[in-house]
Amino acid sequence: MSEITQINSLSEYKEIYKQSIDDPELFWGKQAETFSWKKKWEKVCNCDFDGPNINWFVGGKLNITENCLDRHIAKKGDQTALLWEPNDTNQATRKFTYKELLSAVNQCANALKKNGIVKGDRVILYMPMVPELTIAVLACARIGAVHSVVFAGFSAQALADRIKDAQAKMVISADVNRRGNKIIPVKEVVDDAIKMNCDSVETQLVFRNGSDEIAWDYTIDKWWHHELDGMSEECEATEMDSEDLLFILYTSGSTGKPKGVVHTCGGYMVYASFSFINVFQYKENDVYWCTADIGWITGHSYIIYGPLLSGATTMMFEGVPTYPDAGRFWEICEKHKVNQFYTAPTAIRALMAKGLNIPDKYDLSSLKVLGTVGEPINEEAWNWYNEVIGKSKVPIVDTWWQTETGGIMITPLPGITDTKPCYASYPLPGIEPVLVDSEGNLVKGNNVEGLLCINKPWPSMIRTTYGDHARCKSTYFSLYKGKYFTGDGARRDEEGRIRVIGRVDDVINVSGHRIGTAEVENAINEHPEVIESAVVGFPHPIKGQGIYAFMITDETLKTKNEFEKEVRAKVTEMIGPIAKPDEMIIVSGLPKTRSGKIMRRILRKIASDEFDSLGDVSTLLNPTIVQEIIEKKKSI
Ligand code: WTA
Repeated sequence: MSEITQINSLSEYKEIYKQSIDDPELFWGKQAETFSWKKKWEKVCNCDFDGPNINWFVGGKLNITENCLDRHIAKKGDQTALLWEPNDTNQATRKFTYKELLSAVNQCANALKKNGIVKGDRVILYMPMVPELTIAVLACARIGAVHSVVFAGFSAQALADRIKDAQAKMVISADVNRRGNKIIPVKEVVDDAIKMNCDSVETQLVFRNGSDEIAWDYTIDKWWHHELDGMSEECEATEMDSEDLLFILYTSGSTGKPKGVVHTCGGYMVYASFSFINVFQYKENDVYWCTADIGWITGHSYIIYGPLLSGATTMMFEGVPTYPDAGRFWEICEKHKVNQFYTAPTAIRALMAKGLNIPDKYDLSSLKVLGTVGEPINEEAWNWYNEVIGKSKVPIVDTWWQTETGGIMITPLPGITDTKPCYASYPLPGIEPVLVDSEGNLVKGNNVEGLLCINKPWPSMIRTTYGDHARCKSTYFSLYKGKYFTGDGARRDEEGRIRVIGRVDDVINVSGHRIGTAEVENAINEHPEVIESAVVGFPHPIKGQGIYAFMITDETLKTKNEFEKEVRAKVTEMIGPIAKPDEMIIVSGLPKTRSGKIMRRILRKIASDEFDSLGDVSTLLNPTIVQEIIEKKKSI
């Protein structure tokens, strides 16, 4: 079998990039040939952005888990596939070789089958960062069930919304989640969610993570260990079409409820592996660690699929970066001699704030590549990462991509292309980023800014938003004809490198987590004394962006503190703690256009203390309100 194209030098990058753009079908067909297919595809790409109608490796049949696991057994059966570092330092590391992981996945897959799960069924996973989460993801894929992992920090309400949208037949959960010195109930949240009219759920499969007593409903609850016990370690991999659904992952948009981004089997597989190998320059026997949670796309593509498809050793960490202290990440890097380390700017900033020289206590000499993802990285954090963690010798890959893109799109290649603080820099082969102005005209040349779009289809791109294809079309493919619109603004520097500045829509990026303003507003409005609200992002030293809420309320006798506490509790209940507003003010009105649309642009400026650059406010429905809000903001 041939191998994925590995870029080794700048000249190769340039040449391969050109080939991939000139003849994408030839290029991606070659990459796809490196995998094992049950039936070869008839055509590499059949895509139009008008539908959108996206098809890669048309007619091909495969199972992604055979490519993640079975394919490696002959050569690497005894190599560690999955390494797990627990939250508690007195608990042991767990390791699964490729053989062991395959057996565990098969056992779980058989247990799912026994519980009535068949190809096409949706299974929600709401779990801590334990190896069983990876096993459950792959077990779903093994039998063609569509997995939808929900980050275990979401509330019961948010979970219920997702269960209902996916019409999930099963929820896989755990009794508890360990995060630092907290033990967080997990099953309780799922129980509450299921009670919110989630009638599609027939079974809750509960992984035991250490609690003593737990409420139990014998009609739907089943223990993981009971169901897997005695199950065969063999399970035939279900044949999937390239375009059969692999997973749904919910993410926030600028309007309404979260949307289920749909990824399918063939193209996602090819791109996850291609991008992993090249971006991290993974070499045989390296230990790779991505600190993301599997509840987000980064965990899907770069803890599970990318690394396992590539035969790598991938590590999962159960805990948080600051427990038992702020040296934990570096202690783990030292302990496992981590070669590639991939994290979020928020984590870097949070650790910097705990002490700039803490990492000096650890031996970080194994590191070969440092990565960041999820939000823009500021120069100070980039420099610290470079100097203190990488000793100015380890290239940083600032990787730009999205839930919708499935894989990394724009990034330096370590040791191959140059790096520049804050710049994601260069597109991977097959990816053609362009900047457009608000009318959709191409912004050409260098040293320019614009809206970031992608010109051509690529294998791991979003196929649809689950149950609502029209929403997929209007969000990504209608604004700028013939292009995929990212929702981000970007600049291109003198030498053509790309810097992604941030969202241009009503999405706030808090600690690398996407939060829709409309979702937070809806939650705040549930508070009985709130009449109307508007939330915007503002610069936050650790989180990148924080959430600022402007609220119109009824007269209240509550103190500011009491009231704010209640609003935060409401948001935590409706969405989860990650969406809690950082700052709040009560106002008597909100700036609106004559058609009644809230002018968040103005509120964003006010929240950021940029009072002098509000632009023209005279056309507002209520121009005087702006001054009033400014005075209020200044007074706190
Ligand atoms: C932002 C995460 C600047 C961006 C993989 C994007 C970034 C959103 C970067 C997607 C980066 C991600 N530099 N901004 N390197 N990476 N973003 O769907 O606004 O959780 O649109 O996917 O994060 O977030 P998502």
